[in-house]
Amino acid sequence: VTNVAWRAEDDLDRRTPEITGRPPIDRWTEPGLRRIRVGLLGCGRIGQAVVATARAERDRLAAAGVDLTFVRALVRDVGKRRAVAVPVVDEAETFEMDDLDVLVEVLGGLNPARALVARALAAGVPVVTANKTLVAHEGHDLERLARRHASVLAYDGAVLAGVPFLGSLARRPLLSGAHRIAGIVNGTSHAITTALEAHVPFDRALADAVERGYAEPDSSADISGRDAAEKLTILLRLAGVASARVEQLTILGIDALTPEDFAAARRFGGTVKPVALADLSGDQPGAWVGPAFLGADHPLARATGVTNVLQISGAAGRYASDVPDIIFQGPGAGPSATAATIIDDIVEAIDATPARRPPAARRVSDISQPPVGPWFLRLTATERIRPEDGQALSTLGLPIARSARGEHWVAGLTGVASWRDSQRAVTLARARGFDALAFPACSVV
Ligand SMILES: NC(=O)c1ccc[n+]([C@@H]2O[C@H](COP(=O)([O-])OP(=O)(O)OC[C@H]3O[C@@H](n4cnc5c(N)ncnc54)[C@H](OP(=O)(O)O)[C@@H]3O)[C@@H](O)[C@H]2O)c1
Repeated sequence: VTNVAWRAEDDLDRRTPEITGRPPIDRWTEPGLRRIRVGLLGCGRIGQAVVATARAERDRLAAAGVDLTFVRALVRDVGKRRAVAVPVVDEAETFEMDDLDVLVEVLGGLNPARALVARALAAGVPVVTANKTLVAHEGHDLERLARRHASVLAYDGAVLAGVPFLGSLARRPLLSGAHRIAGIVNGTSHAITTALEAHVPFDRALADAVERGYAEPDSSADISGRDAAEKLTILLRLAGVASARVEQLTILGIDALTPEDFAAARRFGGTVKPVALADLSGDQPGAWVGPAFLGADHPLARATGVTNVLQISGAAGRYASDVPDIIFQGPGAGPSATAATIIDDIVEAIDATPARRPPAARRVSDISQPPVGPWFLRLTATERIRPEDGQALSTLGLPIARSARGEHWVAGLTGVASWRDSQRAVTLARARGFDALAFPACSVV
Protein backbone atom coordinates (compact mmCIF):
# COMPACT_ATOMS: atom_id res chain seq x y z
CA VAL A 1 0.00 0.00 0.00
CA THR A 2 1.45 3.31 -0.98
CA ASN A 3 1.26 6.69 0.70
CA VAL A 4 0.02 5.47 4.04
CA ALA A 5 -0.40 8.51 6.24
CA TRP A 6 -1.46 7.28 9.63
CA ARG A 7 0.28 7.21 12.93
CA ALA A 8 -0.56 4.69 15.58
CA GLU A 9 -0.74 7.42 18.21
CA ASP A 10 -3.57 9.00 16.22
CA ASP A 11 -5.70 5.98 16.76
CA LEU A 12 -8.18 7.08 19.37
CA ASP A 13 -9.76 3.70 19.46
CA ARG A 14 -7.26 1.34 21.02
CA ARG A 15 -9.80 -1.42 21.38
CA THR A 16 -9.51 -2.17 17.68
CA PRO A 17 -8.04 -5.67 17.58
CA GLU A 18 -4.79 -6.32 15.75
CA ILE A 19 -5.27 -7.55 12.20
CA THR A 20 -3.44 -10.79 11.67
CA GLY A 21 -3.98 -12.07 8.17
CA ARG A 22 -7.21 -12.88 6.39
CA PRO A 23 -9.60 -14.72 8.67
CA PRO A 24 -11.36 -17.81 7.43
CA ILE A 25 -14.77 -17.14 5.90
CA ASP A 26 -17.10 -17.74 8.79
CA ARG A 27 -20.75 -18.60 8.56
CA TRP A 28 -23.55 -17.57 10.87
CA THR A 29 -23.73 -21.08 12.20
CA GLU A 30 -20.30 -20.77 13.82
CA PRO A 31 -20.30 -19.35 17.32
CA GLY A 32 -18.36 -16.24 18.28
CA LEU A 33 -17.57 -12.98 16.62
CA ARG A 34 -16.83 -12.67 12.95
CA ARG A 35 -14.13 -10.12 12.32
CA ILE A 36 -15.01 -8.28 9.11
CA ARG A 37 -12.22 -6.41 7.39
CA VAL A 38 -13.64 -3.34 5.71
CA GLY A 39 -11.91 -1.21 3.09
CA LEU A 40 -13.22 2.31 2.51
CA LEU A 41 -13.18 4.19 -0.75
CA GLY A 42 -13.57 7.71 0.58
CA CYS A 43 -13.33 9.01 4.11
CA GLY A 44 -15.32 12.23 3.88
CA ARG A 45 -18.57 12.99 5.71
CA ILE A 46 -20.08 9.57 5.13
CA GLY A 47 -16.90 7.51 5.35
CA GLN A 48 -15.98 9.03 8.70
CA ALA A 49 -19.54 8.60 9.97
CA VAL A 50 -19.43 4.90 9.03
CA VAL A 51 -16.24 4.39 11.05
CA ALA A 52 -17.45 6.48 13.99
CA THR A 53 -20.86 4.77 14.09
CA ALA A 54 -19.40 1.28 13.80
CA ARG A 55 -17.03 2.01 16.67
CA ALA A 56 -19.72 3.65 18.80
CA GLU A 57 -22.10 0.76 18.12
CA ARG A 58 -19.52 -1.97 18.59
CA ASP A 59 -21.59 -3.68 21.28
CA ARG A 60 -24.76 -3.80 19.20
CA LEU A 61 -22.78 -5.16 16.26
CA ALA A 62 -21.05 -7.71 18.51
CA ALA A 63 -24.46 -8.86 19.71
CA ALA A 64 -25.25 -9.46 16.05
CA GLY A 65 -22.03 -11.46 15.74
CA VAL A 66 -19.83 -9.04 13.78
CA ASP A 67 -16.84 -6.89 14.55
CA LEU A 68 -15.96 -4.35 11.85
CA THR A 69 -12.31 -3.44 11.41
CA PHE A 70 -11.48 -0.59 9.05
CA VAL A 71 -8.32 -1.64 7.28
CA ARG A 72 -7.65 1.33 5.00
CA ALA A 73 -9.36 4.21 3.25
CA LEU A 74 -8.73 5.77 -0.13
CA VAL A 75 -8.76 9.58 0.01
CA ARG A 76 -7.55 12.44 -2.14
CA ASP A 77 -5.58 14.30 0.52
CA VAL A 78 -3.74 12.06 2.98
CA GLY A 79 -2.68 15.08 5.04
CA LYS A 80 -6.24 16.16 5.89
CA ARG A 81 -7.27 15.87 9.56
CA ARG A 82 -10.15 13.46 10.02
CA ALA A 83 -12.46 12.79 12.94
CA VAL A 84 -11.60 9.07 12.96
CA ALA A 85 -8.29 7.26 12.79
CA VAL A 86 -8.06 4.96 9.80
CA PRO A 87 -4.96 4.28 7.65
CA VAL A 88 -5.39 6.43 4.55
CA VAL A 89 -3.90 5.99 1.08
CA ASP A 90 -4.24 8.10 -2.04
CA GLU A 91 -3.27 5.74 -4.87
CA ALA A 92 -6.47 4.43 -6.45
CA GLU A 93 -4.75 2.11 -8.95
CA THR A 94 -2.88 0.19 -6.27
CA PHE A 95 -5.64 0.18 -3.64
CA GLU A 96 -5.27 -3.23 -2.07
CA MET A 97 -8.36 -5.44 -1.82
CA ASP A 98 -7.04 -8.98 -1.37
CA ASP A 99 -7.36 -8.84 2.40
CA LEU A 100 -10.84 -7.28 2.50
CA ASP A 101 -14.13 -8.97 3.39
CA VAL A 102 -16.13 -6.02 2.14
CA LEU A 103 -15.48 -2.76 0.32
CA VAL A 104 -17.49 0.40 1.13
CA GLU A 105 -17.56 2.97 -1.67
CA VAL A 106 -18.35 6.51 -0.52
CA LEU A 107 -16.22 8.52 -2.92
CA GLY A 108 -19.05 9.87 -5.08
CA GLY A 109 -19.01 10.29 -8.87
CA LEU A 110 -18.10 7.77 -11.55
CA ASN A 111 -14.31 7.90 -11.49
CA PRO A 112 -12.40 6.27 -9.96
CA ALA A 113 -15.36 4.64 -8.16
CA ARG A 114 -16.51 2.57 -11.15
CA ALA A 115 -13.16 0.89 -11.84
CA LEU A 116 -12.47 0.16 -8.17
CA VAL A 117 -15.93 -1.27 -7.51
CA ALA A 118 -15.66 -3.42 -10.63
CA ARG A 119 -12.24 -4.68 -9.51
CA ALA A 120 -13.62 -5.63 -6.08
CA LEU A 121 -16.69 -7.40 -7.49
CA ALA A 122 -14.58 -9.30 -10.01
CA ALA A 123 -12.43 -10.49 -7.12
CA GLY A 124 -15.55 -11.67 -5.28
CA VAL A 125 -15.40 -8.91 -2.65
CA PRO A 126 -18.91 -7.64 -1.73
CA VAL A 127 -19.36 -3.90 -2.23
CA VAL A 128 -21.59 -1.50 -0.32
CA THR A 129 -22.08 1.95 -1.82
CA ALA A 130 -24.16 5.07 -1.17
CA ASN A 131 -23.14 6.60 -4.49
CA LYS A 132 -26.35 7.11 -6.52
CA THR A 133 -24.47 8.46 -9.52
CA LEU A 134 -22.50 5.23 -9.76
CA VAL A 135 -25.54 2.98 -9.23
CA ALA A 136 -27.77 4.98 -11.59
CA HIS A 137 -25.28 4.98 -14.46
CA GLU A 138 -23.35 1.75 -13.94
CA GLY A 139 -25.53 -0.29 -11.59
CA HIS A 140 -26.89 -2.58 -14.26
CA ASP A 141 -23.43 -3.70 -15.42
CA LEU A 142 -21.97 -3.80 -11.92
CA GLU A 143 -24.81 -6.00 -10.66
CA ARG A 144 -24.27 -8.38 -13.55
CA LEU A 145 -20.58 -8.47 -12.67
CA ALA A 146 -21.46 -9.12 -9.02
CA ARG A 147 -23.74 -12.04 -9.96
CA ARG A 148 -21.12 -13.52 -12.27
CA HIS A 149 -18.59 -13.56 -9.43
CA ALA A 150 -21.06 -14.65 -6.73
CA SER A 151 -20.60 -11.31 -5.05
CA VAL A 152 -23.00 -8.58 -3.90
CA LEU A 153 -23.53 -4.92 -4.71
CA ALA A 154 -25.63 -3.35 -1.93
CA TYR A 155 -26.78 0.26 -2.17
CA ASP A 156 -29.60 1.01 0.25
CA GLY A 157 -27.76 4.24 1.12
CA ALA A 158 -28.14 5.53 -2.44
CA VAL A 159 -31.89 6.32 -2.31
CA LEU A 160 -33.67 7.64 0.81
CA ALA A 161 -30.29 7.12 2.46
CA GLY A 162 -31.55 6.91 6.03
CA VAL A 163 -34.52 4.67 5.20
CA PRO A 164 -33.54 1.03 4.75
CA PHE A 165 -36.07 -0.02 2.14
CA LEU A 166 -34.26 -0.54 -1.16
CA GLY A 167 -33.27 -4.10 -0.25
CA SER A 168 -36.99 -4.85 0.11
CA LEU A 169 -37.50 -3.88 -3.54
CA ALA A 170 -34.51 -6.00 -4.50
CA ARG A 171 -35.77 -9.07 -2.68
CA ARG A 172 -39.52 -8.92 -3.01
CA PRO A 173 -41.10 -9.42 -6.43
CA LEU A 174 -44.61 -8.23 -5.55
CA LEU A 175 -43.33 -5.02 -3.98
CA SER A 176 -41.02 -4.31 -6.91
CA GLY A 177 -43.90 -5.19 -9.24
CA ALA A 178 -46.01 -2.28 -7.91
CA HIS A 179 -47.56 -0.16 -10.64
CA ARG A 180 -46.74 3.33 -9.41
CA ILE A 181 -44.00 4.97 -7.39
CA ALA A 182 -43.96 8.61 -6.38
CA GLY A 183 -41.56 10.22 -4.00
CA ILE A 184 -39.73 13.19 -2.62
CA VAL A 185 -36.22 11.81 -2.97
CA ASN A 186 -34.02 14.91 -2.73
CA GLY A 187 -33.88 16.67 0.62
CA THR A 188 -32.15 19.81 -0.63
CA SER A 189 -34.74 20.67 -3.26
CA HIS A 190 -37.46 19.78 -0.76
CA ALA A 191 -36.02 22.18 1.84
CA ILE A 192 -35.77 24.92 -0.80
CA THR A 193 -39.35 24.48 -2.07
CA THR A 194 -40.62 24.42 1.53
CA ALA A 195 -38.91 27.83 1.98
CA LEU A 196 -40.22 29.13 -1.36
CA GLU A 197 -43.72 28.22 -0.25
CA ALA A 198 -43.13 30.39 2.84
CA HIS A 199 -42.33 33.34 0.51
CA VAL A 200 -38.54 33.13 0.94
CA PRO A 201 -36.83 34.20 -2.30
CA PHE A 202 -34.98 31.43 -4.18
CA ASP A 203 -31.42 32.71 -3.56
CA ARG A 204 -32.04 33.09 0.16
CA ALA A 205 -33.72 29.68 0.37
CA LEU A 206 -30.65 28.12 -1.27
CA ALA A 207 -28.21 30.07 0.94
CA ASP A 208 -30.16 28.95 4.05
CA ALA A 209 -30.06 25.32 2.91
CA VAL A 210 -26.27 25.54 2.45
CA GLU A 211 -25.85 27.24 5.83
CA ARG A 212 -27.87 24.56 7.61
CA GLY A 213 -25.85 21.84 5.92
CA TYR A 214 -28.78 20.55 3.83
CA ALA A 215 -27.13 21.59 0.58
CA GLU A 216 -23.67 21.63 -0.93
CA PRO A 217 -22.25 24.96 -2.08
CA ASP A 218 -22.68 23.44 -5.55
CA SER A 219 -26.28 22.28 -5.44
CA SER A 220 -26.84 22.19 -9.18
CA ALA A 221 -27.62 18.45 -9.20
CA ASP A 222 -30.28 18.97 -6.51
CA ILE A 223 -31.86 22.06 -8.07
CA SER A 224 -31.82 20.77 -11.65
CA GLY A 225 -33.39 17.45 -10.61
CA ARG A 226 -30.40 15.39 -11.78
CA ASP A 227 -29.88 13.86 -8.32
CA ALA A 228 -33.57 12.87 -8.12
CA ALA A 229 -33.40 11.50 -11.67
CA GLU A 230 -30.48 9.26 -10.67
CA LYS A 231 -32.50 7.96 -7.74
CA LEU A 232 -35.58 7.38 -9.88
CA THR A 233 -33.43 5.48 -12.40
CA ILE A 234 -32.30 3.17 -9.59
CA LEU A 235 -35.90 2.66 -8.44
CA LEU A 236 -37.06 1.98 -12.00
CA ARG A 237 -34.37 -0.60 -12.50
CA LEU A 238 -35.32 -2.34 -9.26
CA ALA A 239 -38.91 -2.25 -10.49
CA GLY A 240 -37.86 -4.24 -13.54
CA VAL A 241 -37.27 -1.51 -16.12
CA ALA A 242 -33.78 -2.72 -16.92
CA SER A 243 -33.33 -0.22 -19.72
CA ALA A 244 -33.99 2.87 -17.54
CA ARG A 245 -31.40 5.60 -18.10
CA VAL A 246 -31.04 8.99 -16.44
CA GLU A 247 -30.77 10.68 -19.84
CA GLN A 248 -34.18 9.39 -20.97
CA LEU A 249 -36.15 11.00 -18.18
CA THR A 250 -38.11 14.22 -18.48
CA ILE A 251 -36.71 16.57 -15.83
CA LEU A 252 -37.69 20.07 -14.71
CA GLY A 253 -35.60 21.94 -12.12
CA ILE A 254 -37.20 23.69 -9.16
CA ASP A 255 -35.63 26.97 -10.32
CA ALA A 256 -38.45 27.11 -12.90
CA LEU A 257 -40.95 27.73 -10.08
CA THR A 258 -42.31 31.21 -9.38
CA PRO A 259 -44.25 32.62 -6.39
CA GLU A 260 -47.39 32.41 -8.56
CA ASP A 261 -47.11 28.60 -8.63
CA PHE A 262 -47.29 28.47 -4.85
CA ALA A 263 -50.06 31.08 -4.72
CA ALA A 264 -52.11 29.10 -7.25
CA ALA A 265 -51.42 25.77 -5.51
CA ARG A 266 -52.63 27.28 -2.24
CA ARG A 267 -55.83 28.45 -3.92
CA PHE A 268 -56.36 24.87 -5.13
CA GLY A 269 -55.94 23.66 -1.56
CA GLY A 270 -52.58 22.01 -2.12
CA THR A 271 -48.90 22.58 -2.46
CA VAL A 272 -45.97 22.18 -4.88
CA LYS A 273 -43.11 19.82 -4.10
CA PRO A 274 -40.19 18.33 -6.04
CA VAL A 275 -41.16 14.76 -6.88
CA ALA A 276 -39.91 11.80 -8.85
CA LEU A 277 -42.68 9.59 -10.13
CA ALA A 278 -43.20 6.70 -12.45
CA ASP A 279 -46.37 5.05 -13.62
CA LEU A 280 -45.64 1.53 -14.78
CA SER A 281 -49.19 0.32 -15.25
CA GLY A 282 -51.17 -0.18 -18.41
CA ASP A 283 -50.01 0.64 -21.88
CA GLN A 284 -49.12 4.28 -21.20
CA PRO A 285 -46.27 4.25 -18.73
CA GLY A 286 -44.30 7.37 -17.97
CA ALA A 287 -41.93 9.06 -15.56
CA TRP A 288 -41.34 12.59 -14.33
CA VAL A 289 -38.76 14.37 -12.21
CA GLY A 290 -39.64 17.90 -11.16
CA PRO A 291 -42.26 19.97 -9.38
CA ALA A 292 -45.70 18.50 -8.92
CA PHE A 293 -48.94 19.85 -7.52
CA LEU A 294 -50.06 17.77 -4.56
CA GLY A 295 -53.51 18.02 -3.03
CA ALA A 296 -53.42 18.68 0.71
CA ASP A 297 -54.56 15.11 1.39
CA HIS A 298 -51.72 13.58 -0.62
CA PRO A 299 -49.21 11.68 1.56
CA LEU A 300 -46.27 13.49 -0.04
CA ALA A 301 -47.85 16.89 0.74
CA ARG A 302 -47.54 16.45 4.47
CA ALA A 303 -43.74 16.06 4.53
CA THR A 304 -41.67 19.19 5.07
CA GLY A 305 -38.03 20.30 5.14
CA VAL A 306 -35.46 17.68 4.16
CA THR A 307 -37.68 14.65 4.79
CA ASN A 308 -37.82 12.07 2.01
CA VAL A 309 -40.97 10.05 1.30
CA LEU A 310 -41.72 7.30 -1.14
CA GLN A 311 -45.23 6.11 -1.95
CA ILE A 312 -45.66 2.74 -3.64
CA SER A 313 -49.04 1.89 -5.12
CA GLY A 314 -50.34 -1.45 -6.25
CA ALA A 315 -47.86 -3.76 -4.52
CA ALA A 316 -50.69 -6.07 -3.50
CA GLY A 317 -51.66 -6.56 -7.12
CA ARG A 318 -54.43 -5.60 -9.46
CA TYR A 319 -57.09 -7.62 -7.63
CA ALA A 320 -56.40 -5.68 -4.45
CA SER A 321 -57.17 -2.14 -5.50
CA ASP A 322 -58.65 -1.45 -2.06
CA VAL A 323 -55.28 -1.99 -0.33
CA PRO A 324 -53.84 1.38 0.70
CA ASP A 325 -50.48 2.57 -0.61
CA ILE A 326 -47.23 1.80 1.13
CA ILE A 327 -45.25 4.77 2.42
CA PHE A 328 -41.55 4.80 3.27
CA GLN A 329 -40.47 7.98 5.00
CA GLY A 330 -37.45 9.33 6.85
CA PRO A 331 -34.11 11.08 6.52
CA GLY A 332 -32.90 11.12 2.93
CA ALA A 333 -29.34 12.07 3.77
CA GLY A 334 -27.06 13.05 6.64
CA PRO A 335 -23.93 11.28 7.82
CA SER A 336 -25.34 9.38 10.82
CA ALA A 337 -28.52 8.19 9.09
CA THR A 338 -26.61 7.15 5.96
CA ALA A 339 -23.87 5.45 7.99
CA ALA A 340 -26.41 3.29 9.83
CA THR A 341 -27.88 2.12 6.51
CA ILE A 342 -24.39 1.40 5.15
CA ILE A 343 -23.39 -0.60 8.23
CA ASP A 344 -26.52 -2.74 8.04
CA ASP A 345 -25.78 -3.20 4.32
CA ILE A 346 -22.29 -4.44 5.23
CA VAL A 347 -23.75 -7.01 7.60
CA GLU A 348 -26.21 -8.15 4.92
CA ALA A 349 -23.64 -8.15 2.13
CA ILE A 350 -21.26 -10.51 3.92
CA ASP A 351 -24.02 -12.99 4.60
CA ALA A 352 -23.39 -16.32 2.95
CA THR A 353 -26.48 -16.24 0.77
CA PRO A 354 -27.09 -12.86 -0.85
CA ALA A 355 -30.85 -12.60 -1.28
CA ARG A 356 -30.83 -9.93 -3.98
CA ARG A 357 -32.20 -11.20 -7.25
CA PRO A 358 -32.41 -9.67 -10.68
CA PRO A 359 -35.81 -7.94 -10.82
CA ALA A 360 -38.55 -9.54 -12.90
CA ALA A 361 -38.34 -7.72 -16.22
CA ARG A 362 -41.34 -5.59 -17.19
CA ARG A 363 -42.56 -4.94 -20.64
CA VAL A 364 -42.42 -1.18 -20.36
CA SER A 365 -41.91 0.42 -23.70
CA ASP A 366 -41.10 4.04 -22.97
CA ILE A 367 -40.69 6.07 -19.81
CA SER A 368 -39.22 9.13 -21.50
CA GLN A 369 -42.41 11.16 -21.09
CA PRO A 370 -44.43 11.84 -17.96
CA PRO A 371 -47.50 9.68 -17.48
CA VAL A 372 -50.86 10.75 -18.84
CA GLY A 373 -52.80 12.49 -16.07
CA PRO A 374 -54.05 15.80 -14.69
CA TRP A 375 -51.80 18.88 -15.01
CA PHE A 376 -51.19 22.04 -13.11
CA LEU A 377 -50.93 24.89 -15.62
CA ARG A 378 -49.95 28.44 -14.66
CA LEU A 379 -49.79 31.56 -16.84
CA THR A 380 -48.27 34.83 -15.63
CA ALA A 381 -48.63 38.18 -17.40
CA THR A 382 -46.46 41.24 -16.95
CA GLU A 383 -49.61 43.37 -17.09
CA ARG A 384 -52.52 43.04 -14.71
CA ILE A 385 -54.73 40.11 -15.73
CA ARG A 386 -57.89 41.37 -17.45
CA PRO A 387 -61.20 39.54 -17.18
CA GLU A 388 -60.85 38.30 -20.75
CA ASP A 389 -57.47 36.72 -19.85
CA GLY A 390 -59.44 34.39 -17.63
CA GLN A 391 -60.47 32.76 -20.89
CA ALA A 392 -56.81 32.25 -21.79
CA LEU A 393 -56.74 28.91 -20.05
CA SER A 394 -59.77 27.42 -21.71
CA THR A 395 -58.46 28.13 -25.20
CA LEU A 396 -55.21 26.18 -24.84
CA GLY A 397 -56.63 22.81 -25.78
CA LEU A 398 -56.61 21.28 -22.29
CA PRO A 399 -59.70 20.22 -20.30
CA ILE A 400 -59.74 22.68 -17.36
CA ALA A 401 -61.27 21.17 -14.23
CA ARG A 402 -60.59 24.08 -11.85
CA SER A 403 -59.15 27.55 -12.28
CA ALA A 404 -57.96 30.40 -10.11
CA ARG A 405 -56.52 33.81 -10.79
CA GLY A 406 -54.51 36.50 -9.09
CA GLU A 407 -53.54 39.99 -10.09
CA HIS A 408 -50.95 38.84 -12.63
CA TRP A 409 -51.67 35.14 -13.08
CA VAL A 410 -54.23 32.53 -14.00
CA ALA A 411 -53.86 28.85 -13.23
CA GLY A 412 -55.76 25.68 -13.81
CA LEU A 413 -55.93 22.05 -12.82
CA THR A 414 -56.73 20.01 -15.86
CA GLY A 415 -58.47 16.73 -16.47
CA VAL A 416 -56.50 13.81 -17.87
CA ALA A 417 -54.19 14.86 -20.71
CA SER A 418 -50.90 13.81 -22.22
CA TRP A 419 -47.53 15.49 -21.66
CA ARG A 420 -47.51 16.43 -25.30
CA ASP A 421 -50.86 18.26 -24.92
CA SER A 422 -49.65 20.06 -21.80
CA GLN A 423 -46.52 21.22 -23.64
CA ARG A 424 -48.56 22.34 -26.62
CA ALA A 425 -50.67 24.47 -24.26
CA VAL A 426 -47.53 25.97 -22.67
CA THR A 427 -46.08 26.83 -26.10
CA LEU A 428 -49.36 28.42 -27.17
CA ALA A 429 -49.60 30.48 -23.97
CA ARG A 430 -46.01 31.69 -24.41
CA ALA A 431 -46.78 32.69 -27.99
CA ARG A 432 -49.59 34.81 -26.54
CA GLY A 433 -47.11 36.63 -24.32
CA PHE A 434 -47.55 34.77 -21.03
CA ASP A 435 -44.86 33.19 -18.92
CA ALA A 436 -46.22 29.65 -18.69
CA LEU A 437 -45.41 26.40 -16.92
CA ALA A 438 -47.08 22.99 -16.60
CA PHE A 439 -46.28 20.08 -14.33
CA PRO A 440 -48.14 16.99 -13.09
CA ALA A 441 -50.97 17.31 -10.58
CA CYS A 442 -50.82 14.29 -8.31
CA SER A 443 -54.22 14.56 -6.70
CA VAL A 444 -57.02 16.85 -7.62
CA VAL A 445 -59.34 17.63 -4.73
N1 LIG B 1 -23.62 13.43 2.48
C1 LIG B 1 -24.74 12.73 2.55
O1 LIG B 1 -25.63 13.03 3.37
C2 LIG B 1 -24.95 11.55 1.65
C3 LIG B 1 -26.11 10.76 1.80
C4 LIG B 1 -26.29 9.65 0.99
C5 LIG B 1 -25.35 9.33 0.06
N2 LIG B 1 -24.23 10.12 -0.07
C6 LIG B 1 -23.25 9.72 -1.08
O2 LIG B 1 -22.09 9.25 -0.43
C7 LIG B 1 -20.94 9.55 -1.22
C8 LIG B 1 -19.95 10.33 -0.37
O3 LIG B 1 -20.54 11.51 0.09
P1 LIG B 1 -19.80 12.45 1.16
O4 LIG B 1 -20.82 13.44 1.57
O5 LIG B 1 -19.14 11.63 2.21
O6 LIG B 1 -18.69 13.14 0.24
P2 LIG B 1 -17.34 13.86 0.71
O7 LIG B 1 -17.47 14.38 2.10
O8 LIG B 1 -16.98 14.80 -0.37
O9 LIG B 1 -16.26 12.67 0.75
C9 LIG B 1 -15.71 12.10 -0.40
C10 LIG B 1 -14.48 11.30 0.02
O10 LIG B 1 -13.94 10.67 -1.13
C11 LIG B 1 -12.58 11.07 -1.31
N3 LIG B 1 -12.34 11.22 -2.76
C12 LIG B 1 -13.14 11.87 -3.65
N4 LIG B 1 -12.62 11.75 -4.90
C13 LIG B 1 -11.49 11.02 -4.78
C14 LIG B 1 -10.51 10.57 -5.71
N5 LIG B 1 -10.58 10.86 -7.01
N6 LIG B 1 -9.49 9.82 -5.24
C15 LIG B 1 -9.39 9.53 -3.94
N7 LIG B 1 -10.29 9.93 -3.00
C16 LIG B 1 -11.31 10.67 -3.43
C17 LIG B 1 -12.41 12.37 -0.57
O11 LIG B 1 -11.06 12.52 -0.18
P3 LIG B 1 -10.56 13.77 0.73
O12 LIG B 1 -11.24 13.59 2.07
O13 LIG B 1 -9.11 13.65 0.83
O14 LIG B 1 -11.04 14.99 0.02
C18 LIG B 1 -13.37 12.15 0.62
O15 LIG B 1 -12.71 11.45 1.63
C19 LIG B 1 -21.47 10.31 -2.44
O16 LIG B 1 -21.67 9.40 -3.47
C20 LIG B 1 -22.79 10.85 -1.95
O17 LIG B 1 -23.71 11.06 -3.02
C21 LIG B 1 -24.01 11.20 0.70
